[in-house]
Amino acid sequence: MAAKSAWGPGSKSGRAARLTYAAPTYEFLEKRARRRVPGFAFDFVQGGTGADWGVDENRRVLDAVQIVPRYGELEKVETGVEIYGRRYDVPIGIAPTGMDALIWPGSTMALAKAAAHGNIPYITGTLANSTLEEVAEVAGGNTWLQLYGFPREDHRVTFDLIARAKTAGVSAIVATLDAPVRAKRPRDLHNRLVVPFRPTPRTVWQVATAPHWALALLRNGMPRFANIDRYVDGRPTLDNVAGFVQRELKGTFSWEEIARMRREWDGALLVKGVLHPDDAEEAVKAGADGILVSNHGGRQSDAAPSPVDVLPGIRDRVDGRTDLFLDSGVRSGLDAVRAMALGARAVFCGRAYLYALAALGDGGGAHFADLIREEFAVAMAQSGAWSPAGLGDVTFRHPGAFDFGA
Ligand SMILES: Cc1cc2nc3c(=O)[nH]c(=O)nc-3n(C[C@H](O)[C@H](O)[C@H](O)COP(=O)(O)O)c2cc1C
Repeated sequence: MAAKSAWGPGSKSGRAARLTYAAPTYEFLEKRARRRVPGFAFDFVQGGTGADWGVDENRRVLDAVQIVPRYGELEKVETGVEIYGRRYDVPIGIAPTGMDALIWPGSTMALAKAAAHGNIPYITGTLANSTLEEVAEVAGGNTWLQLYGFPREDHRVTFDLIARAKTAGVSAIVATLDAPVRAKRPRDLHNRLVVPFRPTPRTVWQVATAPHWALALLRNGMPRFANIDRYVDGRPTLDNVAGFVQRELKGTFSWEEIARMRREWDGALLVKGVLHPDDAEEAVKAGADGILVSNHGGRQSDAAPSPVDVLPGIRDRVDGRTDLFLDSGVRSGLDAVRAMALGARAVFCGRAYLYALAALGDGGGAHFADLIREEFAVAMAQSGAWSPAGLGDVTFRHPGAFDFGA
């Protein structure tokens, strides 16, 4: 009888067992996603701003973090964590992505199901494909809500979204700061992925040659900004709502606006996109419970440092006064271990979950949640940490730490 591998299907059966072989890591999912969806949809997700330098940098700096294994203790691995009074099975959540249905029609609800399956936080986006209420119905208190600003009429839309989040039982609000202007995304321009969207012979051909995606589109309908439909005058067609978003949305908040949000919202309040310790300090002053250190996955500035490299400087400044989270470039359980060794309380994955859906369909999110949890458990134990709390004590080398001066 063949020896059982710890990485084999174990007690899984059927499709879940087959996926253990077909898509064992992020890299397999990304490759498979590229083959299964139209090129313009894949480019929309994979691309960064400028020359994708920031996207590559996020990987380079994570790969450079080394962890020295320690031995001599043997315990049962525990991956669970408590965050803002709620127990999650693993400190690796799903980052918010707008227009997510472009790479996999129906993605938002599939992500909500993945969050429920894996008992992990899912930060659903202001610009997600389903409403926050629909997400909360499936993901319950695992639902966190990402907010963009809509300053017109004294932030009517923003504060209505917060009121809706309260009613729906959302656990945390995450205000995005790092998109004060629309970044230039060269691949989207080249693919003519602009508002209003008009298909070209090339895009039609790409759809015709991506049957899984086309069928998912038939089942789920055109991508939408479902949270926003109700605020738009006239019929909520994609062009109409996208036009509203282009005119009204502001991808950042002033500290005063964050402080006002703090007064309106009793749950956990996080800001997303902070990369400088001074901004972290401002966030704490404005009353943020947490900071999601992020460079938007390399999609806003090609010169921005990777969150991994600024995390130590931010931690030195605000340690103990707020919780630090990290995204941008996280692809594996080992990456989560690296980021948590540097001081993150939990990490989030954006592209990884979208590729998982594009590669495997609606169930891809649950597959990725299982896969990364298993990787995380093994990477922790291999580092000599048997629970997330132990990751603070591992011995690591981090060559790229950013020097902010005294
Ligand atoms: C297709 C796509 C859409 C995104 N949309 C949003 C958004 O609407 N709001 C936001 O705060 N961040 C958005 N992000 C950034 C993610 O929340 C996250 O910071 C980033 O994806 C993390 O990097 P990773 O993709 O390498 O994991 C988006 C990212 C992608 C890839």
